[in-house]
Amino acid sequence: MAHSTFDVRVASPDDAASLATLLRDFNQEFDAPVDEQTALEGRLSRLLARRDFFAVLVGDPAFGFATVALRATAYGDGEVAALEDLYIRPDARGQGAGSALIESLGQHARARGIVAAEVFVDEPDADALRFYQRHGFVHHDPGTGERAFYLHHNLDSGTRLPHPERQFGSTAPKA
Ligand SMILES: CC(C)(COP(=O)(O)OP(=O)(O)OC[C@H]1O[C@@H](n2cnc3c(N)ncnc32)[C@H](O)[C@@H]1OP(=O)(O)O)[C@@H](O)C(=O)NCCC(=O)NCCS
Repeated sequence: MAHSTFDVRVASPDDAASLATLLRDFNQEFDAPVDEQTALEGRLSRLLARRDFFAVLVGDPAFGFATVALRATAYGDGEVAALEDLYIRPDARGQGAGSALIESLGQHARARGIVAAEVFVDEPDADALRFYQRHGFVHHDPGTGERAFYLHHNLDSGTRLPHPERQFGSTAPKA
């Protein structure tokens, strides 16, 4: 299904302030630690200038976003996209904006030669799981069909990751 009625665009460093506001809204809604606006704006401004990080915004003014970090893989010439956060403000949900965002992300990723995308979802978050599955994500190893797990080891206790249970991309470790 196409969701062409939504204005979706790739963010530039100039969008750091609105992206920071939305990310803080997301963290607050889920009772996660919230970074201070100015510090977050600065970090996002630097990240959005990098080649291995990008964000997509929906709406004008923006009411939803997705952030993506890229990593290299030995299994292909392109990169893997780790979908870090995807968020639509509560009053705009259920109207196709999230689908428009993720479809646009897919198009952008393919255009950049990205070979795969990953996302981490909490097991109880059945709505988000259904959403991602509807958009092509699977939680099993595509080769073997075996269930895939996400494992996390925090190596820097000084880094306060906003969603310890949500951040980074999932992987399908082989036993
Ligand atoms: C998940 C999310 C981005 C989807 O955006 P959206 O604009 O509501 O999505 P769409 O309208 O395109 O599609 C609706 C689907 O979203 C999913 N969904 C997940 N959470 C939802 C929510 N709180 N309200 C409505 N739909 C939700 C459902 O699968 C729904 O489909 P359904 O008809 O089978 O119930 C949005 O609901 C959201 O921001 N949720 C809170 C943050 C979150 O869970 N992010 C993903 C994990 S990082």
